[in-house]
Amino acid sequence: MNKRESILQALSEIQQEDLNPKGGNVWAYVYDSGLREAERVAKEAHNMFMNHNGLDFTVFPSLLELENNIVAEIAELFSNDAMSVAGTFTSGGTESIILAVKAARDYASEHKPTITAPEIILPTTAHAAFHKAAHYLGINTVIVPVDNTTFKVDSYEVEKSITPNTIMLIGSSVNYSHGVSDPISELSLLAEKYEVWLHVDACIGGFLLAYYKKLGLPVIDFDFNLPGVSSLSVDLHKYAFTPKGASVILYRDKQLRKYQYYTCTNWSGYPVINTTIQSTKSGGPLAACWATLKYIGDDGYKKLAETIWQAKQEITKHFMRLDDLYILGDPEGSLLAIGSDTLDIFQLADEMKKSGWYVQVQPGDINTQPSIHLTITPVNRIDEFFQELEEAITHVKLYPRNSLKNEVALLVKDHGITSETISTLLHAAGVKADGSLPSEMASINELLHLLPHEITSEAFLYITNELFTPNKSFTKGVE
Ligand SMILES: Cc1ncc(COP(=O)(O)O)c(C=O)c1O
Repeated sequence: MNKRESILQALSEIQQEDLNPKGGNVWAYVYDSGLREAERVAKEAHNMFMNHNGLDFTVFPSLLELENNIVAEIAELFSNDAMSVAGTFTSGGTESIILAVKAARDYASEHKPTITAPEIILPTTAHAAFHKAAHYLGINTVIVPVDNTTFKVDSYEVEKSITPNTIMLIGSSVNYSHGVSDPISELSLLAEKYEVWLHVDACIGGFLLAYYKKLGLPVIDFDFNLPGVSSLSVDLHKYAFTPKGASVILYRDKQLRKYQYYTCTNWSGYPVINTTIQSTKSGGPLAACWATLKYIGDDGYKKLAETIWQAKQEITKHFMRLDDLYILGDPEGSLLAIGSDTLDIFQLADEMKKSGWYVQVQPGDINTQPSIHLTITPVNRIDEFFQELEEAITHVKLYPRNSLKNEVALLVKDHGITSETISTLLHAAGVKADGSLPSEMASINELLHLLPHEITSEAFLYITNELFTPNKSFTKGVE
């Protein structure tokens, strides 16, 4: 075997433990259009541009051209006045969101200089990326509950939370956890009334909703056609099915976008003007994204949206038939949160994994019902999935696992929440001393549900710090 072959074989061998991201078994994290030729084109485009550096768009003007073209096409989906919309191609939803929060912060610092402790108002369903942005950028978060049956934020609650320090409101269209849209038109009115920035997180829902609209399906108003919307994020590596590393952050106009940029001419090297967080960045994802958008095209996306819509109707019928599981809220897009009053859904997710299907647990907390998240894609094999799901339900009912609920209650009652209690509980849940996780995650998910967030965050830091330990043992015969 030559060097090339042995390297590729080693890489292929380490993939064996993973679930296959293609083919419809993984109902979260991956977005498979099923269009293999589109993927091949994207790979070739990626290879052509992987060594082009987006750090300097004057040296590689092709990247500027590609980005402007992508932004123009995406802006048309979200505004009747797309020519005045400005945007940037980024590496993903989180980067788009961090940039929008930075823009809102810097805009406020120029236009409302009396604000010294800026706040952003987040529904509990707002993506974690906003918390991360606030943490990175030194901004306070004000959390507003969502309705516990619709999972939409109540704009009255948002209004009550606005203070002289508020710089930004957030609404999702749709949110990740429950797949529903917040009332963006009501938030838009608030944004105008209080002169604050409104960001619409359309990272996961926006592209598909725009295509639902083109198909004449009912879609709420959520974009720049509402006058209060200042920025909107939309990920292309989700429902535009491009390779990962593709999102667009859009602004109502260039005047707002400029607050997102960063420039530094105050050092001894080349002048820096960064449009994104990354400085050096491969042109690969940009070219692959452009190629995918062109290859699938408007008609292709309409067909994919139609397939997903039909799949959602079919899946909904299946859940209506099952006594033990139900859909939470009334999801508008392609994401479902599945709850149960009779089943241990933590164990159910493990059972599905054993038969090769990944469904994602949303542990909630002691006040929030845990659920199973399903991301619908055009390739999900629905009948097969439900056959396995019914078998898993039967198994969970016949062989219930030991819950850690009583153990947690007793330990916490006797010792409080100390590092010893946490370590005893992690051990009981199957976490090993080196941080490695058990194959069955039900007990860990249950702990996430039962313990306070500060504690579970600490536990995650510990586990992750152990998992990322330098390791030379994996070489698989490669020097
Ligand atoms: C609504 C929403 N916002 C933001 C993000 C973050 O996107 P990314 O994982 O690409 O950073 C996601 C990811 O699923 C999302 O669903």
